Amino acid sequence: MPWQIRVRVSVGLGLTVPVDHQRLSSIAHSHHPIAAPILGVNLDRLLRRADRQSTARVLDLGCGEGAWALQALAHYPDGHADGVDVSSYALERAASAAADRGLANRLTLHERDARTYVPDGDYDLVLCIGSTHAFGGFAETLELAGRRVNADGILMIGEGFWQVPPTPAALAALDGKADEFTDLPGLVDVAERAGWTPVYAHVSDAAEWDDYEWSWVGSLTRWALDNPGHPDATEALAAARKHRDQWLRGYRNVLGFVTLVLRRS
Ligand SMILES: C[S@@+](CC[C@H](N)C(=O)[O-])C[C@H]1O[C@@H](n2cnc3c(N)ncnc32)[C@H](O)[C@@H]1O
Repeated sequence: MPWQIRVRVSVGLGLTVPVDHQRLSSIAHSHHPIAAPILGVNLDRLLRRADRQSTARVLDLGCGEGAWALQALAHYPDGHADGVDVSSYALERAASAAADRGLANRLTLHERDARTYVPDGDYDLVLCIGSTHAFGGFAETLELAGRRVNADGILMIGEGFWQVPPTPAALAALDGKADEFTDLPGLVDVAERAGWTPVYAHVSDAAEWDDYEWSWVGSLTRWALDNPGHPDATEALAAARKHRDQWLRGYRNVLGFVTLVLRRS
């Protein structure tokens, strides 16, 4: 999955060059703080379908820059959100965005591994968008993140799937295996077997993918070109080019992304 691959790519780079992958990812998301191929209008639609009370307690696991948690707070004006992530760069941006939007007193950020986060009580809405790798995959996320959802709560998971059978070029670009993802019906089957039923879903369209990927590649490229003397500029430019190639020649129109709004069945 590109957002997982990005970590792998960055870690790979980190083995040979001194680029901090969390920092690189943070720069790459400058123009698209939602770290998934989803437009804000569809994020709002998903939150409306989650249909929570104004006092909702929200947990965002792998929250990144907090785009989902903050928008959830806009929907639930008396609610509170906890955001959990391992990236200090992403959390700094989340804190800054919360302050800008006057939401800092309703968002608590936790810099830690989502697997070790032990909350004080359960939640009306638990989000894990593009972050299932934190738990080891989709099925594990259903199990572990699902434990944090109260009896009538909603679990919202954003996950990749094969839009078409994976091509060798896509697998090479993603450094993945064909069985790493299922197709969309297969993903829904996994959820249902785990006791969760979709009450809504959004499948990201080609324009959302293009917007996300061009933003990622473009933001990193722009930063590298604007900072030619920076010690990380060359590596950042190389990472942007490599990623662009992996996307355009590899998984574009092969890998899909769905955000499932799930209830216990
Ligand atoms: C693709 S981003 C998604 C961010 C956010 N959900 C969004 O849609 O904007 C994946 C996030 O998972 C975080 N992450 C990766 N492993 C994690 C872990 N074990 N615990 C918590 N966060 C983790 C990364 O730092 C990154 O911010």
